[in-house]
Amino acid sequence: MLTTRIFATLAVTAVLVLPPALAAEQLERLIVHKSPTCGCCGKWIDHLEANGFAVTPVDVADLGEVKREHDIRPAYRSCHTAVDEQSGYIFEGHIPARIVARFLSDPPENARGLTVPAMPVGSPGMEVGDKFMPYDVLVLEEDGGTRIYAQVNRQEDQY
Ligand code: CU
Ligand code: CU
Repeated sequence: MLTTRIFATLAVTAVLVLPPALAAEQLERLIVHKSPTCGCCGKWIDHLEANGFAVTPVDVADLGEVKREHDIRPAYRSCHTAVDEQSGYIFEGHIPARIVARFLSDPPENARGLTVPAMPVGSPGMEVGDKFMPYDVLVLEEDGGTRIYAQVNRQEDQY
């Protein structure tokens, strides 16, 4: 009788514990290739983690090699290159986490990923007080072209 009750309790506990475990597996996991000496990459990773992403940083000596491997042309390059573990989509540079999340939840046609070329002042990980330079987030298209995915005109729109 007592044993039955214990088993019943265990069964209920197991059911209650399952949903959070499943939710944890649905975390977006990004591998971020970066230079070991670049501080802004680390800050961008902090921004992603604060917004629910699981990040694996990978320090690389030659980032040019990573960009070539993922076919990111010089005009569209930034410091770090992130790759979504599951889908293989590429996220180049200081893209706001919410825009990465929006892209992954509904990837547009003909897209290999997103980029914010160079390193706009005031983008996530590039904060300098309240200085802010409006910038575009571009789709990296499969055929090598780009198009605008989002325009970020105010610093507060990023968070
Ligand atoms: Cu940077
Ligand atoms: Cu970086």
